[in-house]
Amino acid sequence: MKPVSPPALPYAEAYAASLADPAAFWEEQAQQIQWFEPPTEMLTTDAQGLYRWFPGSRLNTSYLALDHHVHFGRGEQVALIYDSPVTNTVSRITYRELLDRTAHFAGGLRQLGVEKGDRVIIYMPNVPEAVVAMLACARLGAVHSVVFGGFAPHELAVRIDDAQPRVIVSASGGMEFDKVIPYKPLLDAAIEKASFKPAHTVILQRPFAQADMQSGRDVDYQKVMQAPQVGCVSVEATDPLYILYTSGTTGKPKGVVRDNGGHAVALKYSMSAIYGMQPGEVFWAASDIGWAVGHSYIVYGPLFQGCTSVLFEGKPVRTPDAGTFWRVVAEHRVQVLFTAPTAIRAIKKEDAEGQLAQHYDLTSLRYLFLAGERCDPATYEWAARTLSVPVIDHWWQTESGWPMLATMVGLSEMPPPRAGSAGHPVPGYDVQILDEAGEPLPPTHTGLVAVRLPLPPGCLPTLWHDDERFRQSYLTTFPGYYLSGDGGFRDAEGYFFIMGRVDDVINVAGHRLSTGEMEELLAAHPAVAECAVLGIACPLRGQRPVGLVVLKDGYTIGEEQLEQELVQLIRDQIGALASFRNALVVKRLPKTRSGKILRKSMRQLADGEAFTMPSTIDDPAILDEIRAVLVRRQVGLAFEKDST
Ligand code: COA
Ligand code: AMP
Repeated sequence: MKPVSPPALPYAEAYAASLADPAAFWEEQAQQIQWFEPPTEMLTTDAQGLYRWFPGSRLNTSYLALDHHVHFGRGEQVALIYDSPVTNTVSRITYRELLDRTAHFAGGLRQLGVEKGDRVIIYMPNVPEAVVAMLACARLGAVHSVVFGGFAPHELAVRIDDAQPRVIVSASGGMEFDKVIPYKPLLDAAIEKASFKPAHTVILQRPFAQADMQSGRDVDYQKVMQAPQVGCVSVEATDPLYILYTSGTTGKPKGVVRDNGGHAVALKYSMSAIYGMQPGEVFWAASDIGWAVGHSYIVYGPLFQGCTSVLFEGKPVRTPDAGTFWRVVAEHRVQVLFTAPTAIRAIKKEDAEGQLAQHYDLTSLRYLFLAGERCDPATYEWAARTLSVPVIDHWWQTESGWPMLATMVGLSEMPPPRAGSAGHPVPGYDVQILDEAGEPLPPTHTGLVAVRLPLPPGCLPTLWHDDERFRQSYLTTFPGYYLSGDGGFRDAEGYFFIMGRVDDVINVAGHRLSTGEMEELLAAHPAVAECAVLGIACPLRGQRPVGLVVLKDGYTIGEEQLEQELVQLIRDQIGALASFRNALVVKRLPKTRSGKILRKSMRQLADGEAFTMPSTIDDPAILDEIRAVLVRRQVGLAFEKDST
């Protein structure tokens, strides 16, 4: 049965309405979801001046994703296609089966003592059991916190201490290409390191990696699944659904909170208005459930919309080749594919002419959406040429949880996408470019990207147990605005261009990482007097971190040995995903006369960008010394032979 689409609203009309009267706009969107108690009040500010959407109304996220569809005739439709080239598996799970599994797992979690408001950490690869665990938490009103499987024990320990989970759900292992990554030893090491200890760990045993189970704490995933099914707990719209930690500018990650009500309304709206998806169609976000994209567009968004979602466990290349993405699109008749530009660059590197795409029937595909980092025009053009569909770069953050700038294919009269631009503001987001004093800049002027308050539903209401850090990080610099941390501009026709972070956050292969945290770790090495970590340009990963270290006087260590130790330190503490491969010894770091390290100038030097010598620099000769080290070590786009 072909779904019937409602007539599409013109973009300009929808956008203007959303800013003129946000409460009325979102009241209408809120009618698209099934509430236990519908909202009577749309938007309030609490005593601390923080915004809350739909206070007092009640719902359950797992009900919206599963039960609702089963009750209304979608039970036999496939909800999730698990496609795992690394384990040679393709399986299809219907809405009814996903509901059954979720209700059992929720029952099992409850037997382990998990109740509404309790936290559950999920440290798993992209497997259906992880999706079930997320939905089971939502069913109980418990708060899940998924930790990306590539993070090292230290990172997991920091999250355990902050979230204080009653239970951690994990797996015996993951697969990176053909390499087995045993998760259990990492989990055990993290719990050992953390001050807070969870009562239980639930372990999914995978055939290729057998985990050692310790009596007392460890419980087998399948045993938890044997518990009787449980129903949905009614929660308030403002109750937290999940915490997702993301890198800030220090070693302590930010616990981004997502509430239940605003999240459901925003994601439901985005599925049709931004992605143009109808119930029954197939959506594939080629991301990881450990990231915001995975939460919103592998799990919740597609399921709220009654779509079929593809859960992919593999890489764009070498699983087994650079045609994998096209094989998945063809085999599952994917209508919309969403991935990061870095994945397209990886494919392009191995299949420059895009020949592998021609081996597959890609006629189902309507759009390729890209996000996670800026899409360079060359990658954009290559993808458009190879796939012959519109390529849409859109901009968002873990904090927003859904796109803030996009070309919205579900609305009419939308200006078409343009290479290099992330499009136009999505309804609800009053995106502004501000100068250093917080004044709006005219078109074509580059400045700080900010969003005028209130943020629409779905965006973070606060940081976990830290309203003050939330205010300090995002709201206090320019009163009345949310500060995104990105820089960019708007052109004369209203297209926005996001050019990169203006703080100590970098984006490595779509993974958001903190150079500040890396600096804290390097500085703890006994040989290091001071250091700077720069995010330099990388043709494959977008950016990669490079450390510059100054040795302590009198400390003797070979440069090569020190580099190896520092590279290992970052692998052990953050994870291999940081792709930290260079720690270069330098005599001094360039600073302003007031002592601030000039990271930007060093990055520009490494990237071969033209720059003017900062007038505040205390000694311009230091940059020449740094340049000499970069040249000698062939580090930086300007100096290296092979940067991947
Ligand atoms: N578990 C364990 N280790 C992981 C991991 C995970 N989930 N993810 C990455 N790693 C490890 C890798 O094995 C690699 O280790 P190594 O240095 O020992 O080889 C290291 O982290 C770096 O990984 P990555 O940057 O992913 O490099 P890669 O060569 O494995 O793959 C790309 C390169 C570009 C193909 C890959 O990064 C990619 O697919 N990126 C797209 C990311 C994406 O979609 N992000 C979504 C954000 S919206
Ligand atoms: P994350 O919170 O991990 O999703 O990372 C968010 C950051 O990724 C943003 O602050 C941007 O720096 C970057 N980003 C995401 N999407 C885009 C995009 N389309 N263009 C430019 N930068 C992007």
